[in-house]
Amino acid sequence: MNPFKYGQVVRAGDFCPRPQLLKEIRGFIASGQNIVIQGERRIGKTSLIHEAVRSVRRTRILYVDLLEIKTADALCKRIAKAIIASENQDGFLERIFKKLSQLKPSVSVDPLTGQPTISFDPAVRLQPDSIEGLLDIIASTHKRKSVVVVFDEFQDILNLKDCREALALLRGKIQFQTNVPYIFAGSIRNKMDEIFNDPDSAFFKSAIPLTVGPLDRKRFGSFLQEKFALGKRHIDPAAIQRLFEIAVDISGDIQQLCEALWEITSYKDQITDENIPKAMSLIFARESKGYESILVLLTGQQLRCLVGLAKLDGVTPQSKAFLQAVGIHLPGSVKKALNRTEKLKIIFQYQGKYRFVNPFFKAWLAYRDF
Ligand SMILES: Nc1ncnc2c1ncn2[C@@H]1O[C@H](COP(=O)(O)OP(=O)(O)O)[C@@H](O)[C@H]1O
Ligand SMILES: [Mg+2]
Repeated sequence: MNPFKYGQVVRAGDFCPRPQLLKEIRGFIASGQNIVIQGERRIGKTSLIHEAVRSVRRTRILYVDLLEIKTADALCKRIAKAIIASENQDGFLERIFKKLSQLKPSVSVDPLTGQPTISFDPAVRLQPDSIEGLLDIIASTHKRKSVVVVFDEFQDILNLKDCREALALLRGKIQFQTNVPYIFAGSIRNKMDEIFNDPDSAFFKSAIPLTVGPLDRKRFGSFLQEKFALGKRHIDPAAIQRLFEIAVDISGDIQQLCEALWEITSYKDQITDENIPKAMSLIFARESKGYESILVLLTGQQLRCLVGLAKLDGVTPQSKAFLQAVGIHLPGSVKKALNRTEKLKIIFQYQGKYRFVNPFFKAWLAYRDF
């Protein structure tokens, strides 16, 4: 069994310890302090939050994922589902169904997974003002057993047409629930800043900020080494360093690369730098359909700029060297092309530099000829 996991929340033995952050978060939970957790995609925010709450005794998580949320109705329903899931852990399903009766909830069993799934009457469309009632229910369940409320990918609340109203309603309730700890997590810094650092926002400075950065290389390196050892594989420390570089220290991407390395090696193998290209090829083979569908969206100029970014790592896109390499005369044209690819979420800006959302797509672009 391949021991490397990516694209999912990792827990317990799959979670490489982050003792400092865990301690801080536990402290904030204990004092009912609201926090806002920021960090890059796939760095490990969601796993960290679950792990932190899991380690606090007699406390449950009420987890609401706002990823790609579009309407206030969906927001309310996601909160309601989270309430149900949280109550269900303690067998209070019936009672909570009564409280949510206006939504006409029902349980059915997913024929594929065998898991129970909750659905609501689609004819019931909720307005933002239902948020208040839902948060009141949360407060009442908290009285019986402590709960930590998590809004993950919170920046996506800005997608809502009536986001200001939704934020004001949320904030209005949350500020009086002084003993319920709320955790807001998000990966898109400028949008999170818009919510928490803009004086015009209802959430202005309403939670203590915490940043989740890369895992400590030494600790994570040993963690990965031990996982390889489970299959009697030995990996060179130099190869591990190389993985960190390729994946720019993004935890999930490092695990993805390790998963591929494991697949292309066998029992008692010694893994070195030289195995990495084959692992990358495996990733490319799995992902190339997706890469090609990105290419379809690009003009020739945009593609050349992206390939330039991938190949000329670190060269400023407005510099002469860059313009020459990509065969474009005007810095403004490069800027425009990159803006477009940023909008398409292929690249993003980080500390004044462009980075690829997917480091493997970057490598794929760099190694191919266009
Ligand atoms: N503490 C950790 N130990 C080991 N792997 C981790 C850890 N945190 C994150 N990862 C890796 O990163 C992936 C994404 O983690 P996740 O918590 O979903 O990140 P985020 O919420 O920041 O996008 C996981 O599937 C796992 O591969
Ligand atoms: Mg997450």
